Amino acid sequence: MFRVRTMNKIAPVGLQELPEEYYQVSDQFENYEGILVRSAVLHDTQFPPELRAIARAGAGVNNIPIDRCSENGIVVFNTPGANANAVKELVLAALLYSSRDIFGGSQWVRNRVLEGTDVTTVVERGKSAFIGPEISGKTLGVIGLGAIGAKVANSAISLGMKVIGYDPFLTVDTALLLDTHVRHTTKIEELYRAADYITIHVPYNKDTAGQLNAEAIEQMKEGVRILNFARGGLVDDDAMIAGLESGKVGRYITDFPNNRLAMTKNVICTPHLGASTPESEENCAVMAARELRDYLENGNIKNAVNLPNVSMPRSGVCRLCLIHRNVHSVLAGIMDILAKKNINVENMTNKSRGEYAYTMVDMNTVVGEDVRAELYTMKSMIRVRIV
Ligand SMILES: NC(=O)c1ccc[n+]([C@@H]2O[C@H](COP(=O)([O-])OP(=O)(O)OC[C@H]3O[C@@H](n4cnc5c(N)ncnc54)[C@H](O)[C@@H]3O)[C@@H](O)[C@H]2O)c1
Repeated sequence: MFRVRTMNKIAPVGLQELPEEYYQVSDQFENYEGILVRSAVLHDTQFPPELRAIARAGAGVNNIPIDRCSENGIVVFNTPGANANAVKELVLAALLYSSRDIFGGSQWVRNRVLEGTDVTTVVERGKSAFIGPEISGKTLGVIGLGAIGAKVANSAISLGMKVIGYDPFLTVDTALLLDTHVRHTTKIEELYRAADYITIHVPYNKDTAGQLNAEAIEQMKEGVRILNFARGGLVDDDAMIAGLESGKVGRYITDFPNNRLAMTKNVICTPHLGASTPESEENCAVMAARELRDYLENGNIKNAVNLPNVSMPRSGVCRLCLIHRNVHSVLAGIMDILAKKNINVENMTNKSRGEYAYTMVDMNTVVGEDVRAELYTMKSMIRVRIV
């Protein structure tokens, strides 16, 4: 029986992935093998020695002490792509309201009513202040063609837009999902020069912080509309506000408001609504629970942020799951210990990621605590599991 501690309310459809015959789930456990978490901050949480894995129902993992987890052989999962459709839909709406002043027009109607005017008598005269171009036939630049960017790019094509995408780390899997009409460029300047609308969908890190700065904006079309549903820090606010004031940027739509931006003309802010749909919450909960379950029961790792993806169909009668440092001679050491015990290896796999590596060994003998103890004598061994 595995114990899973929930650190936030997890959508029931996710918890149903953990059958009662094998799992106890509670927000009260002191000792537990797994954690399911959404946004609870775990940096100061003391983890019990039994903890094997943390599954975050969502993409960002800055609420989890990743380095401490890695050092203690705790696998941290997230749920990439589970909220991509939710974000994509909001970006599509934003493309339209970046083009036509839908919110301004709506506010104008309310204001006429509040001042006592029969709005039906002024609609035709007033509407000209809110017109804007159609998106069909215009060019959308998509920076980052991952789970969200690829969906946005494909949908924009079906809305009649031309799409130019930029992603220096484009994976084969994502490339295969892209509509063939999406043009991929290896030069971001080309995207800046061509796009009437630019939307950014990259992770926030030291390489992407402030990516949309004065130099980038300078290369863009006059009146470009910029959408940011990824992270506030990707955009240099000073440069953006200067661009808006000069008219270089026609409109800036962001899901990451701050007081300055909220009060700047031609900025439309939403309060981080990208993934806020019931469907997205459920998708994340289901994916997180499945990842946790496959790791606890089979040792398979899919969508970990601190260890490589490693999966292997079960063979033999017993499986060793080993988290260790990515240094030489570890595999030889493991095989040596098994050979001395006359244990035959049916199948094995090993992958590394940065400082850490993961090895799974299927055997035709059920191994005991003596093997575990021997494996722990290896200096580079971090966690030994027998599943
Ligand atoms: N508004 C919201 O509520 C919300 C919700 C989910 C995700 N997000 C944000 O959206 C971002 C993207 O999410 P995703 O699910 O598509 O992630 P993803 O990992 O599937 O895709 C990110 C893509 O960006 C690419 N990339 C990395 N650095 C790049 C660079 N310098 N230039 C161009 N491309 C680069 C990667 O190769 C990858 O293809 C997340 O990092 C997150 O910050 C926001």
